[in-house]
Amino acid sequence: MSIPLILAVLTAPILAMAANHTSTTTPSLVTFIFGDSLTEVGNNNHLRYSLARSDFPFYGIDYTNRKPTGRFTNGRTIIDIISEKLGIPSPPPYLSLHHNDDAVLKGVNYASGGAGILNDTGTYFIQRMSFDDQIGYFENTTKVITVKIGQTSAKTLLHRAIYFIAMGTYSIVRGSNDYMHNFLQPSLPDGRRYTHEQFLEILSLKLVEQLTRLYLLGARIVIFHALGPLGCVPSERAKSTTNQCLRQVNEWVVRFNYKVQKLIKALNFKLKKAQFIFADTYQDGLNLIENPSKYGFKVSNRSCCAIETAVGGLCLSYAHVCANRSEYVFWDAFHPSDAANVVLVDRFFSKLFDTSNSSTKSSSNHIGYML
Ligand SMILES: *[C@@H]1O[C@H](CO)[C@@H](O)[C@H](O)[C@H]1NC(C)=O
Ligand SMILES: *[C@@H]1O[C@H](CO)[C@@H](O)[C@H](O)[C@H]1NC(C)=O
Ligand SMILES: *[C@@H]1O[C@H](CO)[C@@H](O)[C@H](O)[C@H]1NC(C)=O
Ligand SMILES: *[C@@H]1O[C@H](CO)[C@@H](O)[C@H](O)[C@H]1NC(C)=O
Ligand SMILES: *[C@@H]1O[C@H](CO)[C@@H](O)[C@H](O)[C@H]1NC(C)=O
Ligand SMILES: *[C@@H]1O[C@H](CO)[C@@H](O)[C@H](O)[C@H]1NC(C)=O
Repeated sequence: MSIPLILAVLTAPILAMAANHTSTTTPSLVTFIFGDSLTEVGNNNHLRYSLARSDFPFYGIDYTNRKPTGRFTNGRTIIDIISEKLGIPSPPPYLSLHHNDDAVLKGVNYASGGAGILNDTGTYFIQRMSFDDQIGYFENTTKVITVKIGQTSAKTLLHRAIYFIAMGTYSIVRGSNDYMHNFLQPSLPDGRRYTHEQFLEILSLKLVEQLTRLYLLGARIVIFHALGPLGCVPSERAKSTTNQCLRQVNEWVVRFNYKVQKLIKALNFKLKKAQFIFADTYQDGLNLIENPSKYGFKVSNRSCCAIETAVGGLCLSYAHVCANRSEYVFWDAFHPSDAANVVLVDRFFSKLFDTSNSSTKSSSNHIGYML
């Protein structure tokens, strides 16, 4: 199968709408978002004891009304920008909805800063919704949808929806929690118990289980966002005496991506009508970091907030925020700026719709996007 199918996938719901196949209560394109701080839009604000939060200044300094919302950046997350491009509102955080909210029919965002593939990723943050928790909440959502519109329509809605997973996704993010706050943190149990190779194996087995569970709940079109070059986020660079990218971290990321790419390919064979897509944005992230000026940025080797070595690496209220956020690839020690997110989403979309260049120059032989 090849890339044009993805185009069909993204346009099909819109065409269906135009042809009156859907009722007025069913929106043209429904998305369900799973992830970590790269895609969180405010779930953790509702977790009283979570330390993984961004509902304080200077987060949101360039967002609507300059208000912090629980997004881990100065402006929009990648999912906000992707939603804009799809012409739909960015789905609301699950925990902001009441149990029987009609809003669930238009999509929900379950992402939670500090989340990871493994249940015990990010225990460090005390409270967050792991990927398992997020899938559990989604299961609740499927029940609510079924009660609202009936079994047949619910099934159609769930089959046609797009599921976006940015779990341990972006390089840049604390999002990559299975690495940042688990694998690379020797004081946590997983760092002690397993070799890197065993750990990668455990992650992929767990991921197969989770993706299969989503499929059984009705997911068919699933986009899994690859990890970016984590070794280059400011907090990692700060561990190098010369402020360089940590090569070994990037190598682990590439190996993880390769494993996920393979398991997604296998799931597409195994699960009937599954259209799982692996979106490999590693090389795009690396290009942006290595050649910031090519994309209109000035700085990619430190963050706008300059808090790389601070505990948590978050842009706390005492940080000295750079004047022009658009000059910086990184907002805080983990997360890209709004401006960088725009570039990354542009790359994501151009790859998604580019039929002529199916194989990328990525060092690890990934196919850019595959069905
Ligand atoms: C859509 O529905 C309206 C009213 O039900 C109908 O008049 C129109 O022909 C339909 N359009 C298409 C493209 O089926
Ligand atoms: C995940 O961990 C929490 C405690 O942190 C526990 O309550 C929950 O049952 C675990 N879930 C799974 C699926 O292991
Ligand atoms: C899931 O649904 C059950 C019953 O429908 C409810 O009791 C529970 O609180 C829900 N969980 C969440 C996190 O909304
Ligand atoms: C970042 O890179 C620039 C060159 O692009 C260099 O002049 C500067 O010293 C670097 N800063 C850090 C903190 O490494
Ligand atoms: C901020 O930086 C961007 C990117 O370098 C530049 O295009 C823009 O003009 C700058 N804005 C201001 C107010 O200096
Ligand atoms: C395909 O990739 C090559 C090399 O990376 C590039 O020069 C070319 O412009 C790309 N073609 C399209 C249609 O993007």
